[in-house]
Amino acid sequence: MSMRIDLPIAPDFPYGDALLTAITLARRAGDLLLSLHRQGPRRVMTKSTGVDLLTEADLASQDLILTELSRRFPEHGILAEETDGHHETANGALWLVDPLDGTTNFAHRFPVFAVSIALWVDGRPQVGVVQDVVRERTYWAAAGQGAWLADERRLQVSETSELGQSLLATGFPYRRAINTDNNLAEFNALMPATRGVRRAGSAALDMAWVADGRLDGYWEPYLAPWDWAAGILLVTEAGGMVSDYGGGPLHMGSRTVVASNGRLHDALLAAVQEARRRAGLPIML
Ligand code: 2AM
Ligand code: CA
Repeated sequence: MSMRIDLPIAPDFPYGDALLTAITLARRAGDLLLSLHRQGPRRVMTKSTGVDLLTEADLASQDLILTELSRRFPEHGILAEETDGHHETANGALWLVDPLDGTTNFAHRFPVFAVSIALWVDGRPQVGVVQDVVRERTYWAAAGQGAWLADERRLQVSETSELGQSLLATGFPYRRAINTDNNLAEFNALMPATRGVRRAGSAALDMAWVADGRLDGYWEPYLAPWDWAAGILLVTEAGGMVSDYGGGPLHMGSRTVVASNGRLHDALLAAVQEARRRAGLPIML
């Protein structure tokens, strides 16, 4: 796919090449996933548990992205879901790649899944791209440059300031059958306190939709960095807030995420914390 978009970024933004590459690769991987999706049901393998799935599409998408990233940025590290370990680099640049976010949806042909590509430098997100594969939409953000939907428009979080008027999203961990810390306490607390809680199945898209104001907030436990590395930059660059369950900033070891339009952040955080306290669960994972 040719890259014919003129990105509205400042000329002195140091990661413009990385941003262009990430957008191009997210779209190419998206095209690949979309054509596989249209071909019909996929053969499925399982990973840690019977619900932790892997398809050939995850691997094909990852291969496409990683081959090109390592060719263009040989000096950068890469942490991707379907590879073992990662290489920290001297220059502190690390790509975080989820080649298919929402694998369960993909495997069942439920049309909500994404490609997520982020570049972090010295522990801070610089570039984040989330490709909504089925709707063929590219959400991207760059540090200090805003969050955007392709080259169409700038993303802006919602203005909802009451939980009672909010639409939220969440997700449930793969180990939910064997781990009683399964997000149901939080879900039970927030479902009746809001207009609704959606569980669409792609963390990256949930965050893109918070950035775009379609959702007012999102929380999820037991995530890995590639699930949220791009999405949180979309949210903050769109004027929202992100934190872990303790209210602290996210770092590579974070396993919990709360993302919101900012106005709702304290209320959402307090509700999650209170639900966990009542259930006898620690606030942080
Ligand atoms: P995946 O499809 O790439 O595995 C669903 O709730 C969302 O959370 C998806 O984005 C899914 O990503 C992710 N997810 C769920 N459980 C997870 C786990 N145990 N580790 C990492 N990611 C998880
Ligand atoms: Ca994945």
